[in-house]
Amino acid sequence: MKHFLSLKDYSKEEILEIIELGLQIKKETKNKIFKPYLKNVNLGMIFEKSSTRTRVSFETGINQLGGNGLFLSSKDIQLGRGEPIKDTARVISRMVDLIMIRTFGQDRLEEFAKYSKVPVINGLTDKYHPVQLLADYMTMIEFNKQNGVCAYVGDGNNMTHSWMILASKLGLELRIATPDEYKPEADVLDMCEEFSKKSGAKIIYTNDPKVAIKDADVVTTDTWISMGQEEEKEKRIKDFAGYTIDDEMMKLAKDDALFLHCLPAYRGYEVTEEVFEAHADEIFTEAENRLHAQKGLMVWLMN
Ligand code: CP
Ligand code: NVA
Repeated sequence: MKHFLSLKDYSKEEILEIIELGLQIKKETKNKIFKPYLKNVNLGMIFEKSSTRTRVSFETGINQLGGNGLFLSSKDIQLGRGEPIKDTARVISRMVDLIMIRTFGQDRLEEFAKYSKVPVINGLTDKYHPVQLLADYMTMIEFNKQNGVCAYVGDGNNMTHSWMILASKLGLELRIATPDEYKPEADVLDMCEEFSKKSGAKIIYTNDPKVAIKDADVVTTDTWISMGQEEEKEKRIKDFAGYTIDDEMMKLAKDDALFLHCLPAYRGYEVTEEVFEAHADEIFTEAENRLHAQKGLMVWLMN
C-alpha cells in the first residue's frame, strides 16, 4: 500500500506513469467512455479547509470511475470537535477504501496516514499541494511545454514547494522569485538540491521576479495569502509589492509562454485581470486537469 503525501516519495517514472494514466482516462472520458476502474470503491474526502476544485474533481472523478465519494467537512464530523486525528483515521479507514484529506500541518497528514489502513492522498497541506502539480504538469504536456523553463513568482508556499519537488524530480529548470522573508523552506531547498543532482534539474532562487521570468516558457504564481494566513493580509500585500504578474512582466517571458495558476486567483494582487484573461484557456484547462490527473492517481494507487 502506498500513500500520496508528497511528490518527494515518488520517482520520475511513477509521476509520469500517473499523469499518463490520467491522460489516457481523460481521452476515454472525452469520448464518453466511462470504464469502471474503481467499481464500488468508496473515497472518503476530509476537508479541514475550504475547497472548490479539490472537492468537485475528487467527487466527480470517483463517481466517473464507478466508485463513490463521501464529503466529510471537519465542521460536521467529530474531528472538528476535537476527536484525535489518529482515531478519525482508524475509524474511517476501516469503512472506506481510499481517503483524501486537506488539512493544516504536513505532520497532521502524516499522523493520519500512519494510522490509516487504506491509501491516503494529500489534498493540500500548509507545506505541499502535490495533486495540483500532477494537473499542472499534465497541462504542460498538453501545451507542449513539458521540457520548458518554469518561473514561479510570489509567496514561497505549499505550491512553491510542490513545484520545486516536481521540477527537481523531472529534471526541469525552475526559477523561484519571492521576497527574502517569504523564501521556500530551507529543508525543501536542501532536499531539492539532492534530487537535482540525480535528475540534472536546475532550481534557482532569486528575489527578483524579472530575473526569474526572463525567457521562461511557463510562468506561474499563487495567492499571497494562503488559507490560514488571513490575519497577515495587510502586511503581506505590502511585502509583495512588485511581485504582481502584469503585462510588462509577461513580456519578459517567451512570446508563447504559458501562464498557470492553481486558483483561486486574486486579481490586482498576484496577477492582473489582463494577464489572467489572456491566459484563461490554459488556466481553466489546468483546473479541469485536476479531475483527469486525480483519476489517474486514484486508479494507480488502488492497483
Ligand atoms: N487549486 C485548488 O486546490 O483549489 P481549491 O482550493 O478550490 O480546491
Ligand atoms: N497556497 C494556497 C493554495 C490554494 C489552492 C493555499 O494554501 O491557500
